[in-house]
Amino acid sequence: MYPASKHVQKTFEQLIALLPAMEKTKPQVILLAGEVLGFRNDTDRELTFRQESNFYYLTGCDVPSSFLLAAYQPGTSLEQKPPSVDLFIPEANEADIMWSVPPPSLEAAAQIHDVTRIDHASTLPEAIAAMLAALPGALVHTLTRDSPRFPTLPSEFISPIIANESAAATDLYLYAALHNARLTKDIHEIEEIRHANAISSRAHEVVMRVLGLTVKNGLKSAAAAAGRPLLPGEWLIEKEAEAEAIFIASCRREGSVHQAYPPIVAASTRASTLHYCCNDKEFAWGPVGPHDHYNNQPFVAKAKHVFPQVLLIDAGCEWRNYAADITRTMPVGNGGKFTPEARAIYSLVLEMQDASFALLKPGVHWDEVHRVCHTALIRGFQRLGIFRVGPNEKEILASGLSAAFFPHGVGHSLGLDVHDVPSVSKAVDKVTGKLVVFGQGREAAVEFENVDEEWGPPNCYEYLRLRRPLAQGMVVTVEPGIYFSPHLLGRAQAHTSPFVDSEALKRYEPVGGVRIEDVVHITEDTYQNLTTVRSDVEWVEGVCSGEL
Ligand code: GLY
Ligand code: MN
Ligand code: MN
Repeated sequence: MYPASKHVQKTFEQLIALLPAMEKTKPQVILLAGEVLGFRNDTDRELTFRQESNFYYLTGCDVPSSFLLAAYQPGTSLEQKPPSVDLFIPEANEADIMWSVPPPSLEAAAQIHDVTRIDHASTLPEAIAAMLAALPGALVHTLTRDSPRFPTLPSEFISPIIANESAAATDLYLYAALHNARLTKDIHEIEEIRHANAISSRAHEVVMRVLGLTVKNGLKSAAAAAGRPLLPGEWLIEKEAEAEAIFIASCRREGSVHQAYPPIVAASTRASTLHYCCNDKEFAWGPVGPHDHYNNQPFVAKAKHVFPQVLLIDAGCEWRNYAADITRTMPVGNGGKFTPEARAIYSLVLEMQDASFALLKPGVHWDEVHRVCHTALIRGFQRLGIFRVGPNEKEILASGLSAAFFPHGVGHSLGLDVHDVPSVSKAVDKVTGKLVVFGQGREAAVEFENVDEEWGPPNCYEYLRLRRPLAQGMVVTVEPGIYFSPHLLGRAQAHTSPFVDSEALKRYEPVGGVRIEDVVHITEDTYQNLTTVRSDVEWVEGVCSGEL
C-alpha cells in the first residue's frame, strides 16, 4: 500500500522545522484539494486523469475531486502520536456509473488507502467545523490559493477557517515543506521509479532493435504488406514519429498510463534543440544543413543509404505517477554505425557521465558534478582538436565557452514530477556562495570557502536545476550532453574564438547533438543506477545495426 501516512508525518516534520518559533507549538492542520477531472475544450469528453503530485504524495489517492484534512497536535512527538489523515472522496452518482468509472465505495477505498478515515467529500464542511472546535488556535496550511498551479480549494471550505476567531490559514510554508519531504525518497518510491525506468529502458531498447531490423531487412516487410495497414510487428522506423510511436506503444503495453513528459525524438541537427518535441521529420537521405527539417529526396529503401545521423530520444514514462527520464542517442544510416565524428562525441559524453558517476555520494555538492562535466568536455575537445591545446583548461573554463556546447545542467531531482521539487532544488549556489531559494523563512546568505575562478563563470551554471549537496534517498538524473547549436555557437562567437580551431569544429557540427541520461538513486555511501538500458558504443551500434 502507498505509504501516505508516513509522507504526511514527514511533511509535518518539515513544516514544523520551517515555522517561526511562536507558531511551532500551535496545532497544525493540512487542507488540500486533489485534481479534478478535465474535459477537452467545451465538451463533455473526459481527459485522462493525472492526480496533482503533492496530493498523491500525501494520500496515494487517484480519485478525482478528493480532499485531504490532516491534523497534528503538538505536545507529543510525531512518532508517539502520528497525525490523523482524513481522506474525502466523491460519492458515485448515476451519470458517473453510466458514462465512466465511478469513484470507489468508502469500504473499497479504505482497503487501498493508508489513511485514518475515509468519508464522502460532502461531509468535509462538518469535518472542518469539528476540527476547528477540537483544535483551538490551529494553523491551517494550504498550497497557494487561487493559483493555476494547484487545484482550487473551494471557498466554502476555506472561509470558515478565515472567519474563525482563533484559527488562521496560511499558504507560506506547505509548498516548501512538501518539496523538502519529497526531495528524499523512501523504499516504496524508489521501487516505483525503478519500475518506470525498467519499462522505459525496454522501450528505448525496442526502438533501437526496430532500427536494427530496418537496417537488416530494408523495407521488405512493408512491401509485402502493401495494400493494407502495417501490423505492429511490421513497423519499421524511417522517421521521428515512428520512433516516438514505438516508444509510447511499448510503455503503454506494460500498463503505463502517462509519459512523464512529451518525448523528445530528434534526428540529425535537430538533436541540438534541447527540448525539441515536434517529432515530425523524416530522417534525411542526403546531407542536411543545420536545422534543415525537410527531406527533398525520394526515399531510399536500404537504411544504410540514409545519410548518417544521430537520433536522440529523450523519453520516459510514469509508473503510478512516478517518473523516468532517459536519453539515448543512436546512429541512423551508415548501416547503424556512428560516423567517426559522432562516435568521438558520443564517447566523450559517456566520459562526462562516467566522471559524474565517480563523484556520486551523499555530501557531494551537485555544482561539483556539473563542473566535472565541463572540465571533461574541455579536455576531450582539446584531444579532438576542436579546442586548441595552448590555452590551459582553467582558462577555457573561465571563459565560459564550454557552456555554448553544454548549455544545460548535468541533472535534476526526479520523483512524482520529472523536474521534481523545484522550490527546494536550488538551495545553495556554490559558485557565488549565495543562497538562492530555500522556502519561506530561511532566506539568508551562506558563504562558501572555495569560491574562485576554478568553478568557471555563472553562465556555466545558468540552467543547472539542482544547486545543493546530495543526500541519501535523493533520485537525480545524470545527463551530460554536447550540442552544436548554430544559435548558441553564433552567440558565443565560437568560430572566431582564440580557443577554437574553426576547421575542426566544422567537421563536428553535422553531428548535431548527443545526450546520454540515466536516473540514479543516492544510497548511504554511493549510488545505484535505476536505468537499465545499456549505452556503451559496442552495444548501441550492435543493436542499431541489427548485428546483436
Ligand atoms: N526530459 C527533460 C530533461 O531531461 O530534463
Ligand atoms: Mn530527459
Ligand atoms: Mn532530465
